[in-house]
Amino acid sequence: MCGIMGCIKTGDAVRPVIDGLRTLEYRGYDSYGVVFGDGDDTLERTRGVGSVTKADDAGAFAGVGSSHLALGHTRWATHGGVSEANAHPHLSFDGNVAIVHNGVIANHLVLRRELSDAGIEFSSETDSEVVAHLIALEIKRGVDILTSVGNAVGRLEGEYALGIVVRQDPLAIYGAKNESPLLVTWNEDGAILCSDQMAVGSASNEVTYFEDRDVFRLSHDGAEIFRADSSGALRAVQRETVATASGYSAPSKGRFAHYMLKEIDEIPAVVEAATLLTAAQLRGAIPASATRTTLIGSGSAFYVARVGQYFLNTLARLSTHALPSDEAPYWMTFDRHDAVLAISQSGETYDTLSVLRIALAKHAHITSLANVPGCSQERLASHCLQQGAGPEICVLSTKSVISQIVLLARLALRLGVDNGHLSAADFERYEASIARLPATLRALIDECEQIRLLASDHAGVEHWFFIGRGPLYPVALESALKFKEVSYRHAEGLPAGFFKHGTISLIDDDFHTVALLPSRSAAPERFQATVDNVSEIVARRGPVLGIGPHDASADERAEFTRYLGLPLHGDDIADVVIHLVAGQLFAYFCALALGREIDQPRSLAKSVTVR
Ligand code: G6P
Repeated sequence: MCGIMGCIKTGDAVRPVIDGLRTLEYRGYDSYGVVFGDGDDTLERTRGVGSVTKADDAGAFAGVGSSHLALGHTRWATHGGVSEANAHPHLSFDGNVAIVHNGVIANHLVLRRELSDAGIEFSSETDSEVVAHLIALEIKRGVDILTSVGNAVGRLEGEYALGIVVRQDPLAIYGAKNESPLLVTWNEDGAILCSDQMAVGSASNEVTYFEDRDVFRLSHDGAEIFRADSSGALRAVQRETVATASGYSAPSKGRFAHYMLKEIDEIPAVVEAATLLTAAQLRGAIPASATRTTLIGSGSAFYVARVGQYFLNTLARLSTHALPSDEAPYWMTFDRHDAVLAISQSGETYDTLSVLRIALAKHAHITSLANVPGCSQERLASHCLQQGAGPEICVLSTKSVISQIVLLARLALRLGVDNGHLSAADFERYEASIARLPATLRALIDECEQIRLLASDHAGVEHWFFIGRGPLYPVALESALKFKEVSYRHAEGLPAGFFKHGTISLIDDDFHTVALLPSRSAAPERFQATVDNVSEIVARRGPVLGIGPHDASADERAEFTRYLGLPLHGDDIADVVIHLVAGQLFAYFCALALGREIDQPRSLAKSVTVR
């Protein structure tokens, strides 16, 4: 994981690197660091624990000097605790080489032992530090710098995006890449090396992505790029330059206290944007020739896949399955008849990308459903559904989840009407309901005082279940995930009917349950069955909050300790979306009442680029 930002500039490079790290902080915010120095044979380093944005706002970089070259990092800890010693950049034993790393060096223990045996003392517990020492040892042996980098990365197993600075070549940044993303761009002022397009901002409108096993040297106005062959020898390669996606510059919180609330507020507009994708764009997602379709995603994106599976199975009678990306390789053997639909906000999630690489090698059809244009997932796919939801900064995915659900629902409707399983009248009815959604959601978001009260009244509750049936089962999973991510309260999503098969033994008067109810018109049987499950919990003194249709009768509400009525439309697609947004607001207001770090919850990162 982690964010990398390096600059070589005519003017000062330190400030642009700090600004870039602020933008990249969504990739990890455990610690930060910058190394700089331009020609006086020293490498200066400043590091700290926590958020680079907060440190910068508190003046941590006020006394830091300027330099024509700087290389920085913002970390999400994988190996070694959150401490200044483990913050990147890491220096080699002789102070000659500084490195920043995103990824995981799988064989770091073997390398560490070997280097320790050779007398090298380590100053961190990270997997990354070995790289600095390996390069420095090569240089010390008299090998030129680029070959030293090539030789060192040739010894690495695992994933890496590496930025490297060497004292003897003070106006160059070296680097290497394998599986973790890294790109470069230039303007008249110099070069920028970074983990993603967002950090480029307005500095340039085109970028060059490095490819796996690339090794490079960047200077103010150009790059020498090499690819190591199987013998480790470097041969020069050219890499294509691509235009940056427009409208993806770093945003601001505006009038909102948190990005999470701002991004929930943008949901009505995001739903409208999702209705703009054309029938042709949707049709290309699952080719008619595919005999099997697998939806994959991680975290919230996996729960989106589960909802998408429900829509595709019920509306288009397309037998699909949804798998968490990290499990998919154990369950699936792909071939050229397979279609894989990858869902990811960032399009950089390691687990999802690795399934795509496996599926690609077997010639499966890959479709990317992602929010960040130009992401790695899009570059692997043969068909792309771009969400166009705009930058999502809060680590919790809110507007992006909704946009993905609407797009998958529209895909299911389109395929259903195309293959004759859905009547034209039903298609029109669902589409008309989706068209009404922005107005419904606007009202729900603007008039959320009841949700705020419900959340703040229950902020002290330690343990929660979220239950639902049919598509409200993955909604329960997602609402519980959102809730625990941001509130740090224990929450689990479960199918309402499954609950009695064991889990109900946990119920007492402290363990709260949120029951998600569908509208009766969408699902009378599911409505009643869920209410029956609620009775079973209440009979064991478990408090249950009901979230469901606003027209539920007094009798139907009687067993709930509190009931939140929602303006459900009466069909599965709209009702799923309305429930999800209510769940997002419930999680937000609970976290607000608890004083949590809402946009950057502890231990998380927005883009999880490690296994
Ligand atoms: C992290 C975040 C989750 C997110 C998941 C998938 O684990 O904490 O909130 O759902 O990554 O991210 P993606 O970018 O693939 O949607």
